[in-house]
Amino acid sequence: MTAAWLPVRPLASIVFMSNDYSLKSRIAVVTGASSGIGAATALRLAEGGASVALLGRRADRLTELAEKIGDRALAVPVDVTDTAAVTEAVQVVRQRLGRPDLVVANAGVMLGAPFDTGEVSEWDTMLDVNIAGLLATARGFVDDLTSAAADGRADLVLVGSSASKLVFPGYAVYSATKAAVNQLGRILRAELGPRGVRVSTIEPGITATELGADMADATTRAALGEMRAAIEMMRPEDIAEAIAFGASAPARVNLAELLIVPTQMA
Ligand SMILES: NC(=O)c1ccc[n+]([C@@H]2O[C@H](COP(=O)([O-])OP(=O)(O)OC[C@H]3O[C@@H](n4cnc5c(N)ncnc54)[C@H](OP(=O)(O)O)[C@@H]3O)[C@@H](O)[C@H]2O)c1
Repeated sequence: MTAAWLPVRPLASIVFMSNDYSLKSRIAVVTGASSGIGAATALRLAEGGASVALLGRRADRLTELAEKIGDRALAVPVDVTDTAAVTEAVQVVRQRLGRPDLVVANAGVMLGAPFDTGEVSEWDTMLDVNIAGLLATARGFVDDLTSAAADGRADLVLVGSSASKLVFPGYAVYSATKAAVNQLGRILRAELGPRGVRVSTIEPGITATELGADMADATTRAALGEMRAAIEMMRPEDIAEAIAFGASAPARVNLAELLIVPTQMA
């Protein structure tokens, strides 16, 4: 091919066509940022240049992480099952950091037990946090996200679980809450996608975190420990990296659903 065949493209159009994989100037909110996947995600987004609001109940952990990140982090202690408190938290984030454009609804609990002996109060906790809390988070920030989408990228990331697809006896209710998260993501994608909001569902498999440490059923808790010890678990940073990758893609690309499992587990 001779030089005569090469199209001459003005510099401005080349700049316009380039992909911006940066997280700089993004304003992120991460629920469940006091430990595990949420803490690693908050840290990773901040490393990528985003400002980050850290939501969760344990204020001491949030403050510690905020101090580690520096002045682009804001600790906002909140229980996501308290809708009024979530509404207040939304106001605090807007006032202190600006309009959020990247919301990671990650807070969750996993309390396993056989279905016929499981504590109904534990089912209620999972329904409250994993579904109602996630809904309160998404609804609380949805106006900011649709408004942000008009100006650039806007992301609602739902942290589900591989338990929505795989079969883990002893985790019927937990798995059902995560299947609900998956379907919620599909519907929200259809509702919000046309307005430019990317709704993405990230479904991790076994990851080394505190999840499940507080379940009442000692047998299921011990079996979880054995399952974890038998493989090389993923690390919270592995999931954080996937979330950061999706959020930093160009606005036209949505990493809609991502199943991430440990290599040694089918
Ligand atoms: N680890 C895994 O193997 C795995 C696998 C699949 C999916 N996931 C999902 O990943 C997400 C994060 O879990 P993780 O593994 O990182 O476990 P984790 O370390 O136990 O983190 C759970 C987070 O949720 C927060 N949280 C719980 N109840 C809350 C409430 N009422 N209000 C506000 N925040 C609340 C906790 O903070 P506070 O206690 O401070 O409130 C904590 O920061 C969960 O949705 C979980 O289902 C994890």
